[in-house]
Amino acid sequence: MDLGGRVVLPGFVDSHTHLIFPSSRAAEYEQEIAGATYEQIAKKGGGILASVRKLRRMGPAELKFGAHIHLRQMAAHGTTTVEAKTGYGLDFSSEVKMLEILRELRLEQKLDIATTFLGAHVVPPEYKGRVDDFVDLVARIWIPYIARSGFAQFCDVFCDRGAFTVHQAARILTAGIVCGMTPRIHADQLARTGASRLAIRLHAASADHLEKIDRSDIRALAKSEVACTLLPGCCFHLGLEHYAPARALVDAGAAVALATDFNPGTSPTLNMQMILSIACSAMRMTPAEAIAAATINGAYALRRHARVGSLEVGKFADLAAFDVDDYREIPYYFGVNHCSLVIKRGAVIFDKSRTMKIS
Ligand code: NIG
Ligand code: FE
Repeated sequence: MDLGGRVVLPGFVDSHTHLIFPSSRAAEYEQEIAGATYEQIAKKGGGILASVRKLRRMGPAELKFGAHIHLRQMAAHGTTTVEAKTGYGLDFSSEVKMLEILRELRLEQKLDIATTFLGAHVVPPEYKGRVDDFVDLVARIWIPYIARSGFAQFCDVFCDRGAFTVHQAARILTAGIVCGMTPRIHADQLARTGASRLAIRLHAASADHLEKIDRSDIRALAKSEVACTLLPGCCFHLGLEHYAPARALVDAGAAVALATDFNPGTSPTLNMQMILSIACSAMRMTPAEAIAAATINGAYALRRHARVGSLEVGKFADLAAFDVDDYREIPYYFGVNHCSLVIKRGAVIFDKSRTMKIS
């Protein structure tokens, strides 16, 4: 194929998304702009629980339709592999509804999807004040069922202030390990709870967020095999100044990955090119470091680095072409989609010249 001298990269591996959600929360965005914090909104019944209430009522066809549209948009922005979490159901049937949608999506469209069970996203309203009972239910009943059904490769917990403690997260993730699921953790985003240390202890595939880690955590993560997945779309969208210490992590030798965290509360973008721009400008990563973090290191965070994440003989032909002369122009000209052609496993799935026709 003659691509006319365009830049070609491995397709992006977006290793942290909350792909399936019922609708935007644009009204909360306006409250945040006016000064309310993410945690204040959550305390008033907004935030994750607002999405949970809506998702429980919604039929699977409607939810799947929304996810299909988002997957097509991801492909059109150069993403060829995506991780997707549950966690807006929080009761058994709604979590299984999300898992079934993800199973169908894997067959119905071209992007590779890695599924993560995030049953412990927040405490569901019916377990308010009985958190340990909920943890017990997830660890003893839900996880063995989900593992037996082959629904999810990974198990995740939102281990943070206002969500689950390190002790509760350890219980859930250990139950997942026993059943053959690989752990990954939402760690140290709102407060330094020690979640990234738990990730190391449990040999998690990845510790994600890491805004609040300290110097000793950075050293420990760099020595470990845990991928450090940074999600700077959250700080950007919420208008926070304190980004994760990307520079220190890279310099210490950690495996830093970048992902969108695509979700309706903290990071409503599915565009990995925008994440590259934020990573470079706000976290001082170089364009080359950011691209490696969004491709091969994202693949490592999903433990799929033998098949995707780089252009090498023996791997899938997953690639994205960009309408720029120099790879550095992808983050530099920020906020537009430079992607013009996407190939997944050797087949064209997006071609801009065919006016947005995406298969
Ligand atoms: O990764 N931190 C927890 N979960 C998401 C936010 C989800 C939401 O607000 O709906 C995150 O930032
Ligand atoms: Fe997340």
